[in-house]
Amino acid sequence: MDFSDLKEKRKKHLLGGGKEKQEEYKNKGNLTAFERMNTLMDSGTFVEIDPFVTHKCYDFGMEKKRTLGDGVVTGYGMIDSRLVYAFSHDFTVIGGSLGAAFASKVCKIMDLALKQGVPIIGINDSGGARIQEGVESLAGYAEIFHRNVKASGVVPQISVIMGPCAGGAVYSPAITDFIIMTKSAYMFVTGPDVVRQVTNENVSFEDLGGAWVHNQKSGVAHFIVEDEQECFSVLRKLLSFIPLNNLENPPRVSSDDDPVREEEELNSILPTNTNKAYDMGLVIRKVVDNRDFLEVQRFWARNIIIGFGRLDGIPVGIIANNPEALAGVLDIDSCDKATRFVRFCDCFNIPLIALVDVPGFLPGTNQEWGGIIRHGAKLLYAFSEATVPRLTVITRKAYGGAYDVMNSKHIGADYNFAWPSAEIAVMGPEGACNIIFRKEITGSKDTQKKREELVKDYRTKFANPYVASSKGYIDDVIEPKETRARLISSLISIYRKRADRPKRKHGNMPV
Ligand code: HXC
Repeated sequence: MDFSDLKEKRKKHLLGGGKEKQEEYKNKGNLTAFERMNTLMDSGTFVEIDPFVTHKCYDFGMEKKRTLGDGVVTGYGMIDSRLVYAFSHDFTVIGGSLGAAFASKVCKIMDLALKQGVPIIGINDSGGARIQEGVESLAGYAEIFHRNVKASGVVPQISVIMGPCAGGAVYSPAITDFIIMTKSAYMFVTGPDVVRQVTNENVSFEDLGGAWVHNQKSGVAHFIVEDEQECFSVLRKLLSFIPLNNLENPPRVSSDDDPVREEEELNSILPTNTNKAYDMGLVIRKVVDNRDFLEVQRFWARNIIIGFGRLDGIPVGIIANNPEALAGVLDIDSCDKATRFVRFCDCFNIPLIALVDVPGFLPGTNQEWGGIIRHGAKLLYAFSEATVPRLTVITRKAYGGAYDVMNSKHIGADYNFAWPSAEIAVMGPEGACNIIFRKEITGSKDTQKKREELVKDYRTKFANPYVASSKGYIDDVIEPKETRARLISSLISIYRKRADRPKRKHGNMPV
Protein backbone atom coordinates (compact mmCIF):
# COMPACT_ATOMS: atom_id res chain seq x y z
CA MET A 1 0.00 0.00 0.00
CA ASP A 2 1.19 3.51 -0.76
CA PHE A 3 1.39 5.80 2.26
CA SER A 4 2.82 8.75 0.39
CA ASP A 5 -0.35 10.81 0.75
CA LEU A 6 -0.28 10.41 4.55
CA LYS A 7 3.43 11.21 4.63
CA GLU A 8 2.92 14.27 2.44
CA LYS A 9 0.09 15.52 4.67
CA ARG A 10 2.16 15.04 7.81
CA LYS A 11 5.05 16.94 6.25
CA LYS A 12 2.77 19.79 5.24
CA HIS A 13 1.21 19.84 8.68
CA LEU A 14 4.62 20.31 10.27
CA LEU A 15 5.05 23.55 8.35
CA GLY A 16 2.08 25.19 10.11
CA GLY A 17 1.21 28.45 8.34
CA GLY A 18 3.76 27.71 5.58
CA LYS A 19 7.48 27.56 5.11
CA GLU A 20 7.95 31.30 4.74
CA LYS A 21 5.89 32.26 7.81
CA GLN A 22 7.53 29.56 9.86
CA GLU A 23 11.02 30.72 8.92
CA GLU A 24 10.16 34.32 9.69
CA TYR A 25 8.79 33.18 13.04
CA LYS A 26 11.83 31.09 13.87
CA ASN A 27 14.14 33.92 12.89
CA LYS A 28 12.63 35.91 15.74
CA GLY A 29 14.08 33.30 18.12
CA ASN A 30 10.91 31.24 18.56
CA LEU A 31 10.50 27.49 18.50
CA THR A 32 7.62 26.20 16.38
CA ALA A 33 4.48 24.90 18.08
CA PHE A 34 5.73 21.31 17.54
CA GLU A 35 9.21 22.02 18.76
CA ARG A 36 7.73 23.52 21.89
CA MET A 37 5.78 20.33 22.56
CA ASN A 38 8.85 18.19 22.01
CA THR A 39 10.95 20.41 24.28
CA LEU A 40 8.29 20.40 26.97
CA MET A 41 7.93 16.62 27.08
CA ASP A 42 10.50 13.92 27.87
CA SER A 43 12.37 13.10 24.69
CA GLY A 44 10.31 11.12 22.17
CA THR A 45 7.17 10.92 24.34
CA PHE A 46 4.96 13.52 22.68
CA VAL A 47 2.03 12.03 20.76
CA GLU A 48 -0.15 14.31 18.67
CA ILE A 49 -3.93 14.03 18.36
CA ASP A 50 -6.08 15.56 15.60
CA PRO A 51 -3.40 16.64 13.13
CA PHE A 52 -5.88 16.70 10.24
CA VAL A 53 -8.62 18.83 11.75
CA THR A 54 -9.45 21.95 9.70
CA HIS A 55 -11.92 24.78 10.16
CA LYS A 56 -15.25 24.87 8.30
CA CYS A 57 -15.47 28.62 7.78
CA TYR A 58 -16.28 30.11 4.35
CA ASP A 59 -16.62 33.78 5.30
CA PHE A 60 -14.08 36.47 4.39
CA GLY A 61 -12.15 34.14 2.08
CA MET A 62 -11.38 31.73 4.88
CA GLU A 63 -11.90 28.73 2.57
CA LYS A 64 -8.51 29.63 1.09
CA LYS A 65 -6.89 29.67 4.52
CA ARG A 66 -7.37 26.07 5.62
CA THR A 67 -4.41 24.57 7.44
CA LEU A 68 -4.08 21.00 8.70
CA GLY A 69 -4.40 21.10 12.49
CA ASP A 70 -6.06 24.55 12.35
CA GLY A 71 -3.29 26.36 14.23
CA VAL A 72 -3.02 24.34 17.40
CA VAL A 73 -0.96 21.25 18.20
CA THR A 74 -2.60 19.02 20.82
CA GLY A 75 -1.70 15.74 22.48
CA TYR A 76 -0.06 14.03 25.42
CA GLY A 77 3.36 13.01 26.63
CA MET A 78 5.48 12.59 29.70
CA ILE A 79 7.23 15.14 31.89
CA ASP A 80 9.73 13.50 34.23
CA SER A 81 7.96 10.23 33.42
CA ARG A 82 4.55 11.57 34.48
CA LEU A 83 1.67 11.88 32.01
CA VAL A 84 0.40 15.33 30.98
CA TYR A 85 -1.89 16.61 28.25
CA ALA A 86 -0.95 19.79 26.42
CA PHE A 87 -1.77 22.16 23.60
CA SER A 88 0.49 24.55 21.76
CA HIS A 89 -0.78 27.49 19.67
CA ASP A 90 0.79 28.02 16.26
CA PHE A 91 1.06 31.78 15.67
CA THR A 92 2.00 31.20 12.01
CA VAL A 93 -1.55 29.99 11.33
CA ILE A 94 -3.84 33.06 11.30
CA GLY A 95 -2.00 34.49 14.30
CA GLY A 96 -2.78 31.44 16.43
CA SER A 97 -6.35 32.72 16.57
CA LEU A 98 -9.05 30.40 17.84
CA GLY A 99 -12.07 29.21 15.85
CA ALA A 100 -14.55 26.39 16.38
CA ALA A 101 -12.31 23.54 15.15
CA PHE A 102 -9.30 24.81 17.08
CA ALA A 103 -11.40 25.06 20.25
CA SER A 104 -12.80 21.55 19.85
CA LYS A 105 -9.26 20.17 19.67
CA VAL A 106 -8.30 21.94 22.90
CA CYS A 107 -11.51 20.81 24.59
CA LYS A 108 -10.85 17.22 23.55
CA ILE A 109 -7.50 17.05 25.30
CA MET A 110 -8.84 18.89 28.34
CA ASP A 111 -11.60 16.28 28.65
CA LEU A 112 -9.06 13.48 28.29
CA ALA A 113 -6.78 15.00 30.92
CA LEU A 114 -9.67 15.36 33.33
CA LYS A 115 -10.72 11.73 32.76
CA GLN A 116 -7.17 10.54 33.38
CA GLY A 117 -6.58 12.91 36.29
CA VAL A 118 -3.42 14.50 34.91
CA PRO A 119 -2.21 18.10 34.43
CA ILE A 120 -3.14 20.28 31.46
CA ILE A 121 -0.36 22.44 30.06
CA GLY A 122 -1.22 25.25 27.64
CA ILE A 123 1.39 26.93 25.47
CA ASN A 124 -0.26 30.17 24.44
CA ASP A 125 0.72 32.33 21.49
CA SER A 126 -2.46 33.70 20.00
CA GLY A 127 -4.37 36.77 18.86
CA GLY A 128 -7.49 35.46 20.61
CA ALA A 129 -10.90 34.78 19.09
CA ARG A 130 -10.65 34.30 15.30
CA ILE A 131 -12.51 37.32 14.11
CA GLN A 132 -13.70 35.71 10.85
CA GLU A 133 -15.48 32.92 12.73
CA GLY A 134 -17.53 35.33 14.80
CA VAL A 135 -19.66 33.86 17.55
CA GLU A 136 -18.27 30.36 16.84
CA SER A 137 -14.95 31.60 18.22
CA LEU A 138 -16.59 33.09 21.28
CA ALA A 139 -18.49 29.83 21.82
CA GLY A 140 -15.24 27.91 21.45
CA TYR A 141 -13.55 30.02 24.08
CA ALA A 142 -16.50 29.72 26.44
CA GLU A 143 -16.30 25.91 26.09
CA ILE A 144 -12.63 26.11 27.09
CA PHE A 145 -13.26 28.48 30.00
CA HIS A 146 -16.00 26.17 31.23
CA ARG A 147 -13.57 23.24 31.21
CA ASN A 148 -10.85 25.33 32.88
CA VAL A 149 -13.28 25.89 35.72
CA LYS A 150 -14.39 22.25 35.86
CA ALA A 151 -10.76 21.17 36.01
CA SER A 152 -9.82 23.78 38.61
CA GLY A 153 -8.77 22.09 41.83
CA VAL A 154 -9.06 18.65 40.19
CA VAL A 155 -5.99 18.60 37.95
CA PRO A 156 -3.22 21.21 37.90
CA GLN A 157 -3.42 23.63 34.97
CA ILE A 158 -0.33 25.55 33.93
CA SER A 159 -0.15 28.20 31.22
CA VAL A 160 2.90 29.29 29.35
CA ILE A 161 2.76 32.59 27.45
CA MET A 162 5.16 32.73 24.57
CA GLY A 163 3.92 35.43 22.24
CA PRO A 164 1.50 38.32 21.96
CA CYS A 165 -1.61 36.85 23.60
CA ALA A 166 -4.89 38.72 23.47
CA GLY A 167 -8.58 38.33 24.31
CA GLY A 168 -9.64 34.77 25.05
CA ALA A 169 -6.01 33.70 24.91
CA VAL A 170 -5.47 35.52 28.20
CA TYR A 171 -8.71 34.71 29.97
CA SER A 172 -8.19 30.97 29.81
CA PRO A 173 -4.68 31.23 31.32
CA ALA A 174 -6.08 33.58 33.96
CA ILE A 175 -8.30 30.75 35.26
CA THR A 176 -5.40 28.30 35.36
CA ASP A 177 -3.17 27.82 38.40
CA PHE A 178 0.12 29.29 37.16
CA ILE A 179 1.26 31.53 34.32
CA ILE A 180 4.84 31.55 33.10
CA MET A 181 5.75 34.37 30.68
CA THR A 182 8.81 34.61 28.51
CA LYS A 183 10.38 38.08 28.44
CA SER A 184 9.18 38.69 24.89
CA ALA A 185 5.56 37.70 25.55
CA TYR A 186 2.56 39.97 26.01
CA MET A 187 -0.85 39.55 27.56
CA PHE A 188 -3.70 41.99 27.14
CA VAL A 189 -7.44 42.02 26.69
CA THR A 190 -6.91 44.03 23.49
CA GLY A 191 -3.75 45.34 21.88
CA PRO A 192 -2.37 48.92 21.73
CA ASP A 193 -4.27 49.76 18.49
CA VAL A 194 -7.66 49.17 20.05
CA VAL A 195 -6.59 50.93 23.24
CA ARG A 196 -5.70 54.01 21.15
CA GLN A 197 -9.07 53.95 19.37
CA VAL A 198 -11.13 53.51 22.52
CA THR A 199 -9.31 55.57 25.12
CA ASN A 200 -6.94 57.75 23.08
CA GLU A 201 -4.13 56.33 25.15
CA ASN A 202 -0.81 55.74 23.42
CA VAL A 203 0.88 52.77 24.96
CA SER A 204 3.47 50.30 23.75
CA PHE A 205 2.98 46.52 23.73
CA GLU A 206 5.57 46.31 26.49
CA ASP A 207 3.96 48.90 28.76
CA LEU A 208 0.47 47.57 28.18
CA GLY A 209 1.04 43.90 28.83
CA GLY A 210 4.73 42.95 28.79
CA ALA A 211 6.11 40.19 30.96
CA TRP A 212 7.41 42.68 33.53
CA VAL A 213 4.03 44.43 33.76
CA HIS A 214 2.35 41.16 34.67
CA ASN A 215 5.11 40.00 36.99
CA GLN A 216 5.52 43.29 38.83
CA LYS A 217 2.39 45.37 38.52
CA SER A 218 -0.72 43.34 37.78
CA GLY A 219 0.16 40.06 39.49
CA VAL A 220 -1.42 38.19 36.56
CA ALA A 221 1.72 36.11 35.93
CA HIS A 222 3.68 33.95 38.36
CA PHE A 223 7.06 33.60 36.67
CA ILE A 224 9.13 35.59 34.19
CA VAL A 225 11.76 33.69 32.23
CA GLU A 226 14.49 34.69 29.84
CA ASP A 227 13.57 32.35 26.99
CA GLU A 228 11.66 29.25 25.99
CA GLN A 229 14.27 26.81 27.33
CA GLU A 230 14.21 28.39 30.77
CA CYS A 231 10.44 28.42 30.61
CA PHE A 232 10.24 24.65 30.25
CA SER A 233 12.76 24.04 32.99
CA VAL A 234 10.76 26.24 35.41
CA LEU A 235 7.62 24.38 34.38
CA ARG A 236 9.24 21.00 35.08
CA LYS A 237 10.46 22.19 38.44
CA LEU A 238 7.03 23.53 39.33
CA LEU A 239 5.37 20.24 38.39
CA SER A 240 7.84 18.33 40.56
CA PHE A 241 6.12 19.72 43.68
CA ILE A 242 2.58 18.99 42.54
CA PRO A 243 0.55 15.77 42.40
CA LEU A 244 -1.10 14.71 39.14
CA ASN A 245 -4.55 15.36 40.59
CA ASN A 246 -6.41 16.28 43.75
CA LEU A 247 -6.78 12.66 44.90
CA GLU A 248 -3.05 12.10 45.14
CA ASN A 249 -0.46 13.36 47.57
CA PRO A 250 2.33 15.53 46.19
CA PRO A 251 5.35 13.48 45.12
CA ARG A 252 7.65 12.90 48.09
CA VAL A 253 11.28 12.42 47.08
CA SER A 254 14.04 10.84 49.12
CA SER A 255 16.00 13.63 50.76
CA ASP A 256 19.69 13.58 51.55
CA ASP A 257 19.35 16.65 53.79
CA ASP A 258 19.47 15.89 57.53
CA PRO A 259 15.92 16.30 58.94
CA VAL A 260 17.30 17.42 62.31
CA ARG A 261 19.87 19.79 60.84
CA GLU A 262 20.31 22.83 63.11
CA GLU A 263 21.10 26.25 61.69
CA GLU A 264 23.11 28.32 64.17
CA GLU A 265 22.91 31.33 61.88
CA LEU A 266 19.17 31.58 62.48
CA ASN A 267 19.76 32.19 66.19
CA SER A 268 21.32 35.54 65.33
CA ILE A 269 19.40 36.52 62.20
CA LEU A 270 17.09 39.00 63.92
CA PRO A 271 18.44 42.56 64.28
CA THR A 272 18.46 43.93 67.85
CA ASN A 273 16.30 46.80 66.67
CA THR A 274 12.90 45.16 66.23
CA ASN A 275 11.95 47.63 63.51
CA LYS A 276 14.86 46.65 61.30
CA ALA A 277 14.46 44.28 58.36
CA TYR A 278 16.15 40.92 57.81
CA ASP A 279 16.15 38.37 55.02
CA MET A 280 13.12 36.10 55.42
CA GLY A 281 14.14 34.43 52.14
CA LEU A 282 17.26 33.25 53.93
CA VAL A 283 15.19 31.85 56.80
CA ILE A 284 13.18 29.87 54.25
CA ARG A 285 16.26 28.55 52.43
CA LYS A 286 17.89 27.53 55.72
CA VAL A 287 14.84 25.54 56.70
CA VAL A 288 13.90 23.67 53.48
CA ASP A 289 15.76 20.69 52.03
CA ASN A 290 19.03 21.61 50.33
CA ARG A 291 18.15 25.34 50.34
CA ASP A 292 15.92 24.58 47.36
CA PHE A 293 13.01 27.04 47.20
CA LEU A 294 10.94 27.83 44.11
CA GLU A 295 9.59 31.31 44.69
CA VAL A 296 6.28 32.13 43.01
CA GLN A 297 5.33 35.70 42.00
CA ARG A 298 8.71 36.90 43.17
CA PHE A 299 8.40 40.43 41.84
CA TRP A 300 4.80 41.28 42.77
CA ALA A 301 3.55 42.18 46.26
CA ARG A 302 6.99 41.51 47.66
CA ASN A 303 5.78 42.07 51.21
CA ILE A 304 4.72 38.45 51.18
CA ILE A 305 6.83 35.56 49.94
CA ILE A 306 5.16 32.44 48.54
CA GLY A 307 6.62 29.34 46.97
CA PHE A 308 7.43 25.67 47.13
CA GLY A 309 10.11 23.78 48.99
CA ARG A 310 10.47 20.35 50.58
CA LEU A 311 10.78 19.20 54.17
CA ASP A 312 12.37 15.77 54.40
CA GLY A 313 11.33 15.25 50.79
CA ILE A 314 7.68 16.27 51.31
CA PRO A 315 6.59 19.19 49.09
CA VAL A 316 5.25 22.13 51.11
CA GLY A 317 3.84 25.54 50.23
CA ILE A 318 5.44 28.38 52.17
CA ILE A 319 3.81 31.73 52.92
CA ALA A 320 6.08 34.20 54.70
CA ASN A 321 5.82 37.89 55.54
CA ASN A 322 8.81 39.73 54.17
CA PRO A 323 10.20 42.40 56.51
CA GLU A 324 12.33 43.73 53.64
CA ALA A 325 9.30 45.03 51.73
CA LEU A 326 6.84 47.40 53.43
CA ALA A 327 7.96 45.85 56.74
CA GLY A 328 6.02 42.72 55.79
CA VAL A 329 2.66 44.42 56.25
CA LEU A 330 -0.46 42.83 54.74
CA ASP A 331 -2.01 44.94 51.99
CA ILE A 332 -4.47 44.31 49.17
CA ASP A 333 -2.01 42.72 46.75
CA SER A 334 -0.17 40.58 49.29
CA CYS A 335 -3.49 39.22 50.57
CA ASP A 336 -4.56 38.34 47.03
CA LYS A 337 -1.21 36.75 46.30
CA ALA A 338 -1.21 34.60 49.42
CA THR A 339 -4.89 33.68 49.15
CA ARG A 340 -4.61 32.12 45.73
CA PHE A 341 -1.49 30.24 46.73
CA VAL A 342 -3.06 28.86 49.93
CA ARG A 343 -6.05 27.69 47.92
CA PHE A 344 -3.87 26.05 45.28
CA CYS A 345 -1.93 24.11 47.93
CA ASP A 346 -5.11 23.10 49.68
CA CYS A 347 -6.65 21.83 46.40
CA PHE A 348 -3.64 19.62 45.77
CA ASN A 349 -2.88 18.31 49.27
CA ILE A 350 0.28 20.34 49.70
CA PRO A 351 0.93 21.15 53.38
CA LEU A 352 1.16 24.82 54.29
CA ILE A 353 3.91 26.46 56.30
CA ALA A 354 3.46 30.08 57.45
CA LEU A 355 6.45 32.10 58.65
CA VAL A 356 5.06 35.12 60.42
CA ASP A 357 6.53 38.55 61.02
CA VAL A 358 3.68 40.94 60.38
CA PRO A 359 3.07 44.38 61.87
CA GLY A 360 -0.59 44.32 60.78
CA PHE A 361 -2.69 45.51 57.85
CA LEU A 362 -1.57 48.57 55.91
CA PRO A 363 -3.72 51.55 56.99
CA GLY A 364 -4.86 54.49 54.85
CA THR A 365 -7.43 55.62 52.33
CA ASN A 366 -5.68 53.96 49.44
CA GLN A 367 -6.09 50.58 51.05
CA GLU A 368 -9.53 51.18 52.56
CA TRP A 369 -10.97 52.49 49.29
CA GLY A 370 -9.42 49.60 47.45
CA GLY A 371 -11.20 47.21 49.78
CA ILE A 372 -8.49 45.92 52.11
CA ILE A 373 -11.29 44.63 54.34
CA ARG A 374 -12.54 42.38 51.54
CA HIS A 375 -9.05 41.34 50.40
CA GLY A 376 -7.82 40.66 53.93
CA ALA A 377 -10.95 38.63 54.56
CA LYS A 378 -10.04 36.48 51.56
CA LEU A 379 -6.82 35.38 53.16
CA LEU A 380 -8.59 34.71 56.44
CA TYR A 381 -11.12 32.64 54.51
CA ALA A 382 -8.51 30.73 52.53
CA PHE A 383 -6.47 29.69 55.56
CA SER A 384 -9.64 28.90 57.53
CA GLU A 385 -11.00 26.54 54.93
CA ALA A 386 -7.69 24.77 54.20
CA THR A 387 -7.70 21.19 55.41
CA VAL A 388 -4.11 20.25 54.55
CA PRO A 389 -1.54 19.95 57.35
CA ARG A 390 -0.80 23.51 58.50
CA LEU A 391 2.18 24.74 60.50
CA THR A 392 3.14 28.22 61.67
CA VAL A 393 6.31 29.76 63.04
CA ILE A 394 6.13 33.30 64.42
CA THR A 395 9.60 34.79 64.17
CA ARG A 396 8.90 38.29 65.42
CA LYS A 397 5.77 40.41 65.12
CA ALA A 398 2.27 38.96 64.99
CA TYR A 399 0.07 41.92 65.65
CA GLY A 400 -3.66 42.37 65.62
CA GLY A 401 -5.87 40.88 62.93
CA ALA A 402 -2.79 39.83 61.03
CA TYR A 403 -1.94 37.40 63.86
CA ASP A 404 -5.35 35.77 63.40
CA VAL A 405 -5.10 35.72 59.61
CA MET A 406 -1.60 34.32 59.27
CA ASN A 407 -2.47 30.67 59.96
CA SER A 408 -3.20 31.05 63.66
CA LYS A 409 -4.30 28.09 65.77
CA HIS A 410 -7.76 29.61 66.06
CA ILE A 411 -8.43 29.26 62.32
CA GLY A 412 -7.30 25.68 62.14
CA ALA A 413 -3.50 25.49 62.04
CA ASP A 414 -2.20 22.23 63.45
CA TYR A 415 1.06 23.29 65.08
CA ASN A 416 2.06 26.84 65.95
CA PHE A 417 5.54 27.64 67.11
CA ALA A 418 7.18 30.91 68.10
CA TRP A 419 10.75 32.03 68.39
CA PRO A 420 11.55 33.66 71.78
CA SER A 421 11.64 36.98 69.89
CA ALA A 422 7.95 36.70 68.94
CA GLU A 423 5.67 39.58 69.90
CA ILE A 424 2.05 38.51 69.87
CA ALA A 425 -0.29 41.36 70.75
CA VAL A 426 -3.20 43.45 69.55
CA MET A 427 -0.72 46.05 68.35
CA GLY A 428 2.89 47.18 68.75
CA PRO A 429 3.97 48.54 72.17
CA GLU A 430 4.28 52.20 71.08
CA GLY A 431 0.88 52.34 69.39
CA ALA A 432 -0.80 50.42 72.20
CA CYS A 433 0.60 52.69 74.94
CA ASN A 434 -0.36 55.84 73.07
CA ILE A 435 -3.96 54.61 73.11
CA ILE A 436 -4.42 52.97 76.49
CA PHE A 437 -2.15 55.27 78.52
CA ARG A 438 -2.83 58.55 76.73
CA LYS A 439 -3.98 60.32 79.89
CA GLU A 440 -1.07 59.02 81.99
CA ILE A 441 1.44 60.09 79.35
CA THR A 442 0.05 63.56 78.68
CA GLY A 443 -0.49 64.17 82.42
CA SER A 444 3.06 63.28 83.41
CA LYS A 445 5.89 65.79 83.88
CA ASP A 446 8.28 63.99 81.55
CA THR A 447 6.07 62.54 78.81
CA GLN A 448 8.96 60.95 76.94
CA LYS A 449 10.21 59.11 80.03
CA LYS A 450 6.72 58.04 81.04
CA ARG A 451 6.04 56.70 77.55
CA GLU A 452 9.30 54.74 77.59
CA GLU A 453 8.49 53.19 80.97
CA LEU A 454 5.00 52.17 79.89
CA VAL A 455 6.24 50.78 76.57
CA LYS A 456 8.83 48.71 78.42
CA ASP A 457 6.21 47.44 80.81
CA TYR A 458 3.84 46.58 77.94
CA ARG A 459 6.60 44.81 76.05
CA THR A 460 7.42 42.67 79.08
CA LYS A 461 3.79 41.82 79.68
CA PHE A 462 2.42 41.30 76.18
CA ALA A 463 5.02 41.54 73.44
CA ASN A 464 6.42 38.06 73.91
CA PRO A 465 5.35 34.53 73.00
CA TYR A 466 4.72 33.33 76.56
CA VAL A 467 1.24 34.75 77.10
CA ALA A 468 0.02 32.97 73.95
CA SER A 469 1.92 29.80 74.80
CA SER A 470 0.53 29.75 78.36
CA LYS A 471 -2.91 29.47 76.78
CA GLY A 472 -1.91 26.76 74.31
CA TYR A 473 -2.24 29.08 71.29
CA ILE A 474 1.45 28.49 70.66
CA ASP A 475 2.42 24.84 70.99
CA ASP A 476 6.03 25.54 71.85
CA VAL A 477 8.60 28.30 71.94
CA ILE A 478 11.65 27.12 70.02
CA GLU A 479 15.16 28.30 69.32
CA PRO A 480 15.39 29.58 65.74
CA LYS A 481 18.07 27.01 64.91
CA GLU A 482 15.62 24.20 65.68
CA THR A 483 13.03 25.41 63.19
CA ARG A 484 13.72 22.85 60.46
CA ALA A 485 13.75 19.89 62.83
CA ARG A 486 10.56 20.96 64.61
CA LEU A 487 8.72 21.64 61.35
CA ILE A 488 9.68 18.26 59.94
CA SER A 489 8.78 16.26 63.01
CA SER A 490 5.44 18.02 63.43
CA LEU A 491 4.67 17.72 59.72
CA ILE A 492 5.26 13.99 59.84
CA SER A 493 3.12 13.71 62.94
CA ILE A 494 0.10 15.17 61.10
CA TYR A 495 0.83 14.15 57.52
CA ARG A 496 -2.04 11.66 57.44
CA LYS A 497 -4.47 14.31 58.60
CA ARG A 498 -8.05 14.03 57.36
CA ALA A 499 -10.46 16.89 57.96
CA ASP A 500 -14.14 17.05 57.12
CA ARG A 501 -16.14 20.12 56.33
CA PRO A 502 -19.93 20.50 56.40
CA LYS A 503 -21.57 19.38 53.15
CA ARG A 504 -22.41 22.38 50.96
CA LYS A 505 -22.25 23.41 47.33
CA HIS A 506 -19.44 25.86 48.00
CA GLY A 507 -18.74 28.67 50.39
CA ASN A 508 -19.07 32.32 49.45
CA MET A 509 -15.56 33.66 49.64
CA PRO A 510 -15.37 37.50 49.63
CA VAL A 511 -13.71 37.67 46.19
C1 HXC B 1 -8.02 36.64 13.11
C2 HXC B 1 -5.89 37.37 13.53
C3 HXC B 1 -6.23 37.66 14.86
C4 HXC B 1 -7.57 37.40 15.27
C5 HXC B 1 -4.17 38.15 14.57
N1 HXC B 1 -4.62 37.69 13.39
N2 HXC B 1 -5.15 38.15 15.48
N3 HXC B 1 -6.79 36.86 12.67
N4 HXC B 1 -8.42 36.87 14.36
N5 HXC B 1 -7.97 37.62 16.52
C6 HXC B 1 -3.86 37.51 12.16
C7 HXC B 1 -3.47 38.82 11.52
O1 HXC B 1 -4.50 39.28 10.70
C8 HXC B 1 -2.24 38.40 10.72
O2 HXC B 1 -2.68 37.74 9.56
C9 HXC B 1 -1.60 37.36 11.62
O3 HXC B 1 -2.63 36.89 12.49
C10 HXC B 1 -0.49 37.91 12.46
O4 HXC B 1 -0.94 39.06 13.12
P1 HXC B 1 -0.14 40.43 13.13
O5 HXC B 1 -1.07 41.47 13.59
O6 HXC B 1 0.53 40.62 11.81
O7 HXC B 1 0.96 40.12 14.23
P2 HXC B 1 1.59 41.09 15.33
O8 HXC B 1 1.93 42.39 14.73
O9 HXC B 1 2.66 40.28 16.01
O10 HXC B 1 0.41 41.36 16.39
C11 HXC B 1 -0.17 40.34 17.10
C12 HXC B 1 -1.44 40.81 17.83
C13 HXC B 1 -2.38 41.51 16.85
C14 HXC B 1 -1.03 41.80 18.94
C15 HXC B 1 -2.04 39.57 18.52
O11 HXC B 1 -2.55 40.64 15.72
C16 HXC B 1 -3.70 41.81 17.43
O12 HXC B 1 -3.87 42.80 18.11
N6 HXC B 1 -4.71 40.94 17.12
C17 HXC B 1 -6.05 41.14 17.63
C18 HXC B 1 -6.07 40.92 19.12
C19 HXC B 1 -7.41 41.05 19.73
O13 HXC B 1 -7.95 42.14 19.89
N7 HXC B 1 -8.00 39.88 20.01
C20 HXC B 1 -9.22 39.85 20.79
C21 HXC B 1 -10.22 39.02 20.05
S1 HXC B 1 -11.67 38.98 21.00
P3 HXC B 1 -1.84 37.78 8.18
O14 HXC B 1 -2.73 37.11 7.21
O15 HXC B 1 -1.58 39.22 7.91
O16 HXC B 1 -0.58 37.02 8.49
C22 HXC B 1 -11.50 37.68 22.07
C23 HXC B 1 -12.65 37.51 23.02
C24 HXC B 1 -12.69 36.14 23.64
O17 HXC B 1 -10.55 36.96 22.06
C25 HXC B 1 -13.60 36.07 24.82
C26 HXC B 1 -12.99 36.61 26.07
C27 HXC B 1 -13.83 36.54 27.30
